[in-house]
Amino acid sequence: MKKKLVILTGAGMSAESGISTFRDSGGLWDKYRVEDVATPEAFHRNPELVLEFYNIRRRELVNVKPNEGHLGIVELEKDFDVHIITQNVDNLHERAGSAHVLHLHGELMKVRSTRDESLIYELSADKPDIKMGDKCEKGYQLRPHIVWFGEAVPMISEAAEIAKQADIFVIIGTSMNVYPAAGLLDYVKRNVPVYLIDPKDVRTGRFDVHHIKKGASEGVKELRERLSDLGKG
Ligand code: OAD
Repeated sequence: MKKKLVILTGAGMSAESGISTFRDSGGLWDKYRVEDVATPEAFHRNPELVLEFYNIRRRELVNVKPNEGHLGIVELEKDFDVHIITQNVDNLHERAGSAHVLHLHGELMKVRSTRDESLIYELSADKPDIKMGDKCEKGYQLRPHIVWFGEAVPMISEAAEIAKQADIFVIIGTSMNVYPAAGLLDYVKRNVPVYLIDPKDVRTGRFDVHHIKKGASEGVKELRERLSDLGKG
């Protein structure tokens, strides 16, 4: 049986595709205030601004491609049972071809009803905008299918179950600042090897982390080399 390789990804995973991270200098949270664009209160106060923020993100996403890092993770499926838990709302893991992707913070290319959260719709790359007046089939305004700050993270229990079952755990491109995502490492068994791919130091709370201090593309290449023996066991 293949070993279960669980990979937690964040904004740094997609940086080399041309998508801004949040907390690096020049990142999104330098240009926008979280409380203006990524909270339920912001949407209540100024829905046009919030919708436009995500329209811009979507227009950006449809014009970029998965990078070598995303593609390298797909290659790992040959030897491992790979499960990705991503904080990213982009669809670059899926477009690269990864089979198991769990989105903790929602999905940019999806929108849902503000009244009935089971009514979820996928936007197409050639019509990536939504505006005030765009409604679900029951006549209620549509909103981004994104987990805003202050909202529950519905997928966290499923993600914790996956983290518990990891034989190898990898963290790529996340500053580990946002909970509950950052707390997933606590579910990983103590004897499980943990790898971190990030050009910067990241506080993980564990001292036995193997840090590959590189960007996602180069880092995943090195990870594949380092794991090549483990996959055969
Ligand atoms: P951050 O912007 O906080 O962290 C990005 C991480 O990526 C940092 O540790 C960088 O050093 C690293 N990084 C930068 N370039 C990289 C590269 N080329 N390769 C690999 N790593 C690189 O982003 P997240 O941790 O993902 O939530 O942020 C978590 C959440 O906060 C996001 O999902 C978003 C945000 O607010 C919501 O919007 C709900």
